[in-house]
Order: sequence, then C-alpha cells, then structure tokens
Amino acid sequence: MICKSSGLEVQDHDEKGYKSWCVVRIGVVFVGVIVACMVLSNSEPMSYVFIRNSRIMGMNRNTLDIVLKRASMKNKTVILTTLNDAWAEPNSIFDLFLESFRIGNKTKRLVKHLVVICMDKKAYKRCLALHPHCHHLRTKGINFSSEALFMNPDYLQMMWRRIEFLAHLLEKGYSFVFTDSDIMWLQNPFKRFYPDADFQIACDYFWGNSYDVDNLPNGGFNYVKSNNRTIQFYKFWYKSRERYPGLHDQDVLNKIKHEPFIKEIGLQLRFLDTAYFGGFCQPRELINLICTMHANCCVGLQNKVRDLQILLDDWRRFMLLNPTMLSNATLSVPQYCRTSFEHHNTSKENSKTAHKK
Ligand SMILES: *[C@@H]1O[C@H](CO)[C@@H](O)[C@H](O)[C@H]1NC(C)=O
Ligand SMILES: *[C@@H]1O[C@H](CO)[C@@H](O)[C@H](O)[C@H]1NC(C)=O
Ligand SMILES: *[C@@H]1O[C@H](CO)[C@@H](O)[C@H](O)[C@H]1NC(C)=O
Ligand SMILES: *[C@@H]1O[C@H](CO)[C@@H](O)[C@H](O)[C@H]1NC(C)=O
Ligand SMILES: *[C@@H]1O[C@H](CO)[C@@H](O)[C@H](O)[C@H]1NC(C)=O
Ligand SMILES: *[C@@H]1O[C@H](CO)[C@@H](O)[C@H](O)[C@H]1NC(C)=O
Repeated sequence: MICKSSGLEVQDHDEKGYKSWCVVRIGVVFVGVIVACMVLSNSEPMSYVFIRNSRIMGMNRNTLDIVLKRASMKNKTVILTTLNDAWAEPNSIFDLFLESFRIGNKTKRLVKHLVVICMDKKAYKRCLALHPHCHHLRTKGINFSSEALFMNPDYLQMMWRRIEFLAHLLEKGYSFVFTDSDIMWLQNPFKRFYPDADFQIACDYFWGNSYDVDNLPNGGFNYVKSNNRTIQFYKFWYKSRERYPGLHDQDVLNKIKHEPFIKEIGLQLRFLDTAYFGGFCQPRELINLICTMHANCCVGLQNKVRDLQILLDDWRRFMLLNPTMLSNATLSVPQYCRTSFEHHNTSKENSKTAHKK
C-alpha cells in the first residue's frame, strides 16, 4: 500500500460532556488534510455545533486566532494549507510549495498571508523553521504516524472535520483560499478569481464553462468568501454527509452541487478553469496562463515530488525566456505521475482513492 495516513485525537471533558479534537492526514494519494473537530453527543442538533464556535475551536482557539490575525490581509482573507510530517520532510512537498511562491511571478508577497495548519509536532517544528504563520493542533492519543488509520472506519468522519473547521473560519469572518500543499503557486491567482463568486473551486476536469455544475471539482483548492451564503452552504455540505454515508466530502460536493438548495440560498458557485488552475489530471499546455498547478491524479509521494521538481524547473526556464517566447512555452509534466496513475488506474480497488487528489 502506497498510502500513508495518520491521525490524532485529543479529548477532554467539560461540563457539557465529551469533547474531542481529531486530525487526520492521508499522505500520497489523498492530499494531506487536516481536520479540527469537536465531537458532540448525537442528541445535540447540528446547529448547536455551529453556534458554539469557541467549543469547536477548542483549546487551540486563542493561538489560532492570533495566527489568523497576523497572517490576514486587511480584508480578513487568508491562504490556508495543511501539513503533515511526511510532506514536511526536507526536499519534499512543503519545500517545493514554498519554493513555488519564491520563484513564481509576483507570488512572493502572498506568503505572508499563508497559514500552515500542522498536524503533528514534527511538521510544526519544520514549519516554524521556514515560515512565520504556523498553527499546531495540539495532539495526544492516537499515534500520528500510524499507518493503520487509513483503514479505520473513523477515517471518513475525520475527513469531514475539515469542512466543519473551514465553516468555522467563515463564521469568524475569514475568507480563505484553501490550497493543498502539492499545489504550486506560480502566479497570483487572485487576478483570475471571479469577482462575483462566493465559492469557487478548482477542477480535476473542467469542461469549458465555469457555471457548469458537471465540471469535476477538486477540493484541494478553493476560494471562499465569508458571507451568509457560504456559511449556510458549508453547514449544508457538512450536514449532507448524513444523506450520503460513506462518501468523501468531494464526492458529496459532486452530489449537492445539483441540488436546489444552492439556488435557494443564492450561492454563487463557480468552477475554475484548468488552464489557470491546472493539475496533472487535465494538463493544459501553456505555462504562461498557469496560476497554480496541482499534482493531482498522481500515486506515490516520490512521483509527486519528482514531477513537481520538473514543473518548477520548467517554470524557472520559462521565467528566463525572452518575452516573445513566453506565450509558446509548454509544460513537460506530468511524467512520473501519469505513469503512476495509469498503472494505478488498472486496479479497480484503488482507483476510487486516486481520483480524489
Ligand atoms: C507510531 O507508529 C509508528 C509506525 O507504526 C512507529 O514507528 C512509532 O514508534 C509509533 N510512535 C509511538 C509514539 O508510538
Ligand atoms: C481581499 O483583498 C485581496 C487583495 O486585494 C483581493 O484579491 C481579495 O479578493 C479580497 N478578499 C475578499 C474576500 O474580498
Ligand atoms: C447575515 O444575515 C443576518 C440576518 O440573517 C444579517 O443581520 C447579517 O448582516 C448578514 N451578514 C452578512 C455578512 O450578510
Ligand atoms: C508576470 O505577470 C505579469 C502580469 O502580472 C505579466 O505581464 C508578465 O508577462 C508575467 N511574466 C511572466 C514571465 O509570465
Ligand atoms: C510560437 O508558435 C507559433 C505557432 O506554432 C509559431 O508560429 C511561432 O513562431 C512561435 N514563436 C516562437 C517565438 O517560437
Ligand atoms: C481510468 O479509469 C477511468 C474510470 O474507470 C477511465 O475512464 C479512464 O479511461 C482510465 N484511464 C486510464 C489511463 O486507464
């Protein structure tokens, strides 16, 4: 099994009963995902969960608030990513991620708005050494580097906590660009976002029309503005997991994007073009258009790292070209990822996971 996963849980009791923080990370196939959560007893209505902000943010609330405040743009917008120990290793994903900001076209200044949510001590230490805005979710209990959690029935439930966590950021008034850290930031994406959208999301496969709900979104990159519509939408999304038991947040998004609720609340939902917000699933040729590039449709951390290195090399060469050549430059990735994914695809058992990220 190539997949690696780990999780953690911190539990404590308060007057209301049982409270726990959970974090899960699935490396390699699933992009590292972090999740902060509070498990309330089943008898409590969901709305309760969202009202009690302070409880959900739990004991990390204050430090999280400070980190958010420091990193925030004037208009309460942050860039968020998550980090686990495997991806934080030197010469792995996190290094490449930060490097992309450095060599990107005017992306350097965006780094100061980046908040890295670290799932374990090692990732946190490494983050602090490289970046000013790191948040460590306190951990205790479950062995974070355990391989076993991937097969754990709690796995899906924990994945869902990310949605819950992001809903709370929206409730706190923060807009965010959520980005997986295997997404290279090569140009400022803000100039390509739709100004009138509430929720805009990158795609594994984009069919040409940003309003078309048949586009296949990838939860690894989205820009969400904090307002009543997005808060309602995130609550609805989170709650919808009950109607689609066993499904990942991205799969459920693919269900609910068709539902009338979206229109009823007036959510402006848009899908981002893979020409600008690219990925290895649907690689588009021209470098000069690319803002971000996701190592999706890739199996194996090493394949991901190698192709991202090639991508950054392409980019460095591209930046040295004389202006007349810029519009003709093309990408030479995916290479390792393509092979890994094609090979992987033949295994029906695993193809479900491979499509996620
Ligand atoms: C956690 O699990 C990993 C791999 O299963 C093992 O190497 C490590 O020693 C464990 N750590 C703790 C603190 O139990
Ligand atoms: C915040 O400001 C940035 C930079 O001006 C802009 O691109 C972004 O869309 C703004 N965010 C919101 C939520 O308006
Ligand atoms: C959200 O809705 C409430 C009332 O339902 C209103 O008072 C508030 O101003 C709205 N907030 C935003 C950001 O639209
Ligand atoms: C960098 O971005 C600017 C616009 O923001 C553009 O005019 C310029 O061509 C870009 N440079 C490269 C090498 O893409
Ligand atoms: C770019 O591509 C076009 C069409 O393929 C070609 O005609 C043109 O010469 C190329 N420009 C450069 C600078 O290579
Ligand atoms: C991978 O699987 C999907 C769905 O089963 C199929 O549509 C696609 O053609 C396959 N791709 C490759 C390269 O085998």
